[in-house]
Amino acid sequence: MSIRLGDTAPNFQAKTTEGNIDFHTFLGDSWGVLFSHPADYTPVCTTELGRTAQLKEEFRRRNVKVLAVSVDPLDKHTDWVKDINETQHCTVDFPIIADEDRKVATLYDMIHPNASETFTVRSLFIIGPDKKVKLTITYPASTGRNFYEVLRVIDSLQLSAQHSISTPADWQPGDDVIVALSVKTEDAQTRFPKGLRIVKPYLRYTPDPTSNI
Ligand code: BEZ
Repeated sequence: MSIRLGDTAPNFQAKTTEGNIDFHTFLGDSWGVLFSHPADYTPVCTTELGRTAQLKEEFRRRNVKVLAVSVDPLDKHTDWVKDINETQHCTVDFPIIADEDRKVATLYDMIHPNASETFTVRSLFIIGPDKKVKLTITYPASTGRNFYEVLRVIDSLQLSAQHSISTPADWQPGDDVIVALSVKTEDAQTRFPKGLRIVKPYLRYTPDPTSNI
């Protein structure tokens, strides 16, 4: 069954390159990114796992734990990681699940039979500290994901978890945000002391509450 936004991320136990894990215990109070790639020793996947490793500090700063999954076995993952580290100039030290029995892939609907009967597609889930699914994306095998976009969504999710705001199209941290419709304009004046820019009664901007400007 497919997983929808707001669902509790299904728990599982799995064998990974960093030892056996229970997913929910692994996440603890952190945010999580669970993402599948079709197969080891493939070019796009090599760049994706490399980029994720290069962005380790960015994920850490946002209190996010990352976890990759493919249906290849553990020894293959371990050998492939050496190639990733060499070619992408990084150190992969996040766990990669060896999902040989497709338990995780099935639980998270990562195999789309009309795309491939055997490999997972490029699924990605952002999970909040409440274990609820906050974002799902699915990319085809031929297109590597944009991990800066994943960080941008996490920034938006974390900001809207703290403040009654949403973020507009193409928003980047530091840009103006949108006051949530649930906030009355008279209340917005006090809740957003940096000021309001009212374009329409339903379209009200305020500076990013976390920026120093
Ligand atoms: C890749 O990572 O390059 C890839 C994996 C599976 C199918 C096609 C491309």
